[in-house]
Amino acid sequence: MPTIAFDRAAANYSGRQILHPTTLSLTERRIGIIGENGGGKSTLVRLINGLGSVTGGTVTYDGMNVAKQAKEVRKKVGFIFSDADNQIVMPTVAEDIAFSLRKRKLPKDERDRLVHGALERFGLADHADTSPHLLSGGQKQLLALAAVLILNPSTIIADEPTTLLDLRNRLHIRNIFAQLEQQLIVVTHDLDFITDFDRVIRVSAGEIVDDGAPEPVIDRYVRDMTRAARAEEDH
Ligand SMILES: Nc1ncnc2c1ncn2[C@@H]1O[C@H](COP(=O)(O)OP(=O)(O)O)[C@@H](O)[C@H]1O
Ligand SMILES: [Mg+2]
Repeated sequence: MPTIAFDRAAANYSGRQILHPTTLSLTERRIGIIGENGGGKSTLVRLINGLGSVTGGTVTYDGMNVAKQAKEVRKKVGFIFSDADNQIVMPTVAEDIAFSLRKRKLPKDERDRLVHGALERFGLADHADTSPHLLSGGQKQLLALAAVLILNPSTIIADEPTTLLDLRNRLHIRNIFAQLEQQLIVVTHDLDFITDFDRVIRVSAGEIVDDGAPEPVIDRYVRDMTRAARAEEDH
């Protein structure tokens, strides 16, 4: 697995520290990131592929400094957002997947072959010539995943990939993710999603407050949130 290393990495916004200096080594295959809204989960994962930048310290991906080699790092790290609509760029599903390959300068039949394979793999072949905006929420998320996976990244980061989906689509995406061989970092409120992961990290108020095997970390999170909700009710 790739090694992602945070060395006192911090992120400020308008003078406010939204990620306190964080030192962290991510080497597991499946890592879940949990925590309350606004805690800093997205800020943390966006530092890994240079979507966000550190204001102190460093983040390296297999030894490459993300701030200095963002382009190389992005070839290795695919990123999927919860709102798949934001990732749609082309008028048809097939063209949208092909768009990912534009920089590879492949011969047309090689490109078509790859696109066709991706469409088949994600059950989108019947929708190749459809507008992506007509797909269901789950299919859009599959399209986003296909467009990222066709570049064969070593790490996939998904920031709340199932948040906008109904139960059926959520389970489908979960099954697809379960079959991926790559390193996977998933930010989620869908705690069932990550119970069989290798590691779960909890982020709160810009800091890592818990880190370990899924069960104890999730249990403590649920307990703390339950207690906080009860305290609020008593107020
Ligand atoms: N670009 C930004 N501009 C202003 N505030 C931001 C920006 N990005 C993040 N924040 C703030 O940083 C904090 C952490 O945000 P975020 O990492 O998105 O949390 P999470 O993903 O855990 O919900 C929040 O208070 C958020 O409002
Ligand atoms: Mg977020």
